[in-house]
Amino acid sequence: MDTKTKVRHYWENHPLYSHELQDFNRDIDETFTKIDNIKKEDVEKFALAYWQFDKFRGKKLLDVGCGPGWISYNYLKNGTTVYSFDITYKASSFTKNILDKFGSPKVCQADAEHIPFKDDYFDIIVSSGVLHHTPNILKTFQECYRVLRPKGCAKITLYYKGTLHKGPIFKFILNLMKLLDIKHPGWKDKQPQHMIDQDDFIRMYDGQDNPIGIGKKTNEWIKDLQRVGFKVEGYEYHFFPKRFIPLARYMPNFMHYLLDKYLGTMVYFNLKKLKVK
Ligand SMILES: C[S@@+](CC[C@H](N)C(=O)[O-])C[C@H]1O[C@@H](n2cnc3c(N)ncnc32)[C@H](O)[C@@H]1O
Repeated sequence: MDTKTKVRHYWENHPLYSHELQDFNRDIDETFTKIDNIKKEDVEKFALAYWQFDKFRGKKLLDVGCGPGWISYNYLKNGTTVYSFDITYKASSFTKNILDKFGSPKVCQADAEHIPFKDDYFDIIVSSGVLHHTPNILKTFQECYRVLRPKGCAKITLYYKGTLHKGPIFKFILNLMKLLDIKHPGWKDKQPQHMIDQDDFIRMYDGQDNPIGIGKKTNEWIKDLQRVGFKVEGYEYHFFPKRFIPLARYMPNFMHYLLDKYLGTMVYFNLKKLKVK
C-alpha cells in the first residue's frame, strides 16, 4: 500500500475526534454538536478572531481537508460561498450532511495534492490541521496557491516544532504527562515514555497509527510557503487540547489562554497571493 493510501485509510477509519466520541457514527447532528463544543471551548477557543468567520460574506472560499466540516459550517453560516473537500468519503459525506441545511452543499472527495478546481478560482483558501498529514506537503502549498486568485488570502494551520519539543524540556513534558496520566484517546499501547523522539510524538497527535504528521519550526514552514509564492502576512500559535488534562474543567481561563498561546500545538498562518498574471 503506498503512503497516500495509508493516509486515506487511516482517516477513513479514524475521522477527527472519533477516538474520543465513542458514538461518532450514531447521530450526525449530535456528533457535530459535540465537535462544536470541543472546538469552541477547547482547541479553537482563542483562535476565533484568527478565523474571521464573519468577514467573507459573498466571497468564494475553499476548505481544504474539511474533516467534519466545522470550519466550512462557520463560514457558510455567515454568508460565505463555501466549497469543501476531504480525501475521505467519511469526512466529505459527514460535511455534506452538516451543510445540507443551508441549501446544496458544494462538497466533494479529493486530494489536496491535486485540487480539482481551475487556477485563481477562490477568494480565500482555508486549511486547518491538514497539509502536514500528506506525503507531498509542498505540492499542497502549490495547489492552494494555484487555485487562489491574485491578492486573495489563505489561512493555513500546521503542526510546529517549538519550545515544547526541545531536548530536556521535551523529556520533562513526557515525564509530566506520564505522572499526570495525560494521554490521547487514540494512544493504545504506546504511551509518552515509549515515543522515540519529537517527530514520533507529533505524528501521534492524531492517534498512534497515524501514518504522517509533520511538525517543522515556524521559520522552516515560512520558507516552504514563500517558495511557492505566498507572502506570509503574520502568524500566531493556538490549539492546546486542555480537555486531556485531569481536572481541566477547574483550570482558570487565563491559564488556558497562556497554554494556548505559548504551548499551542499549531502555527496559524495568514498568507496572501501576490503574483498577478
Ligand atoms: C486533523 S483532521 C482536520 C479536519 C478539519 N480541517 C478540522 O480542522 O476540523 C485532518 C483531515 O485531513 C484530511 N486529509 C489528510 N490528507 C489529505 C489530503 N491529501 N487531501 C485532503 N484531505 C486530507 C483527513 O482525511 C482529515 O479529515
